[in-house]
Amino acid sequence: MRIAVVGAGYVGLVSAACLAEIGHDVILVDADVNRIADLNRGEVPIHERLLSELLQRHRCQRLTFSSSVSAAVVQSEAVFITVGTPQADGGEPDLSYVESVAAEIASAISEPKLVVEKSTVPVCTCESIRKVLLLHGAELSHVSVASNPEFLREGTAVTDFLYPDRIVMGVDDDFSAAMLYSIYRPLTQGTYYQQEGAIPCPLGQSATIQTIVTNARSAELIKHASNAFLAMKISYINVVANIAETVGADIDQVCAGIGADPRIGPEFLKAGIGYGGSCFPKDVSAFHSVAEQCGIDFSLLAEVTRINTQQRLNFVKKVRNALWTLRGKRIGALGLAFKGGTDDIRESPAIAIIQDLLKEGASVCAYDPAAMLKAREVFPAGSIQYADNEYEAATRRDALLVLTDWRQFGVLDLLKLRAVMKLPIVIDGRNLFNPSQMAAAGFLYYSVGRALQITETMPSLWHGIHFGPPAARMAATGWPDNRRGLHKELVST
Ligand code: UDX
Ligand code: UDX
Repeated sequence: MRIAVVGAGYVGLVSAACLAEIGHDVILVDADVNRIADLNRGEVPIHERLLSELLQRHRCQRLTFSSSVSAAVVQSEAVFITVGTPQADGGEPDLSYVESVAAEIASAISEPKLVVEKSTVPVCTCESIRKVLLLHGAELSHVSVASNPEFLREGTAVTDFLYPDRIVMGVDDDFSAAMLYSIYRPLTQGTYYQQEGAIPCPLGQSATIQTIVTNARSAELIKHASNAFLAMKISYINVVANIAETVGADIDQVCAGIGADPRIGPEFLKAGIGYGGSCFPKDVSAFHSVAEQCGIDFSLLAEVTRINTQQRLNFVKKVRNALWTLRGKRIGALGLAFKGGTDDIRESPAIAIIQDLLKEGASVCAYDPAAMLKAREVFPAGSIQYADNEYEAATRRDALLVLTDWRQFGVLDLLKLRAVMKLPIVIDGRNLFNPSQMAAAGFLYYSVGRALQITETMPSLWHGIHFGPPAARMAATGWPDNRRGLHKELVST
């Protein structure tokens, strides 16, 4: 089919490349003429695994780029809307880009077309898009609007598109259903996976796809409810981790125990400094405002956000407990992106934590495999230092923080790392390291939901060196001998 995709962001770019990959002729549109020029020159504006291969494979073949919405719509049978839906001041999503793109689409519709909302939008947005299309001159018989939410995770977005666990088709008429079935047929019938050069299935994933057909409103709700639930799961486990750390339990063991229940599952139980990105923070807030507009109390979601914000503050407190005063301290930071595998720093906990440390007078040297260019927009030269690798970020530093779960951070040469650091203090916000290995390598290793382990190799001065309130001290040094009544200890502190 001939398909237009409007909005060449993280989602639009990947969707356009993958739609071309499965056999469609795609025109990717963006209002940012520089981005279109970069794409036409073969540049890839975002860091996303496999994306450059697909753009290389299909550019000027089945995939072209344009800055004209109307020209793309005229040549297409279906139009996907993938423009940004950023959070507005009151917490609700700003749908002005969706509206302006819908108005532009309307002016170019002179025969039946399917308009598909793929951006994450509040329930009933399909109706609003339909109204805008009619208001701006499209004929009712030419307009079908459907919801086809994306479930792409940054860093694995290409394989998430090509090997989805489900495709949700939110349709209110037969034309929409027929068109969406036709668009995704290469995946749902598996013909794509048989073709020469198909992107291989990721390990542990299967190519069996559930096609879930709903009405448009249900599809819109599925997206918000899914993201809000995943965010809630993360905030939940982060509080459990804080409890575990206080009582000397081990969050890894706790998660193994609860995740074994298939009703809970092991995924999204990684405790740390909390979630970020362009989706979870915005979608939790958007879903909360949807509930409020329905007159329904969903203050649970406000708690999810509050816990997530508090988790970053808890981490800064942990840094203070480890270092005492922060003014003048030289701190290394591994990670700037909101998660490993991407260059996206939107709502990144790493950025927020570094900003707090700078406010307290610390100096920071950061390394991130992909996000340093984007981070320079927030931290221009001089505000922080940028390193060429992890060891340079740690050199002569009073402490090294782990803020993003890049896989490569978890396999560093610990002896080399210890040798370059001024003080062997590692404070891990993503639990990438094994505490006993770190203690054996001579580090004072703090993490989330796991007590510090002190081994005999530690100089005696480390015992009880922790600054901060007694509770933190106990958690940091591991619970005192349990023979002295847990309850009495709790009461005494
Ligand atoms: C967006 C939404 O934020 C997200 O909620 C949804 O799930 C998917 O789409 P993302 O791809 O990250 O996510 O958006 P963003 O990176 O902001 O890119 C949007 C693109 O649309 C930008 O390149 C922007 O230039 C373009 N755009 C925006 C237009 O082409 N026209 C407009 O009117 C507005
Ligand atoms: C998310 C959803 O997973 C995806 O389905 C939706 O389409 C878009 O939003 P994304 O935000 O790209 O995807 O990344 P994700 O892997 O979900 O991580 C989101 C945040 O949660 C990251 O900051 C990550 O570090 C954090 N996270 C994730 C945790 O803190 N713990 C976990 O166990 C998992």
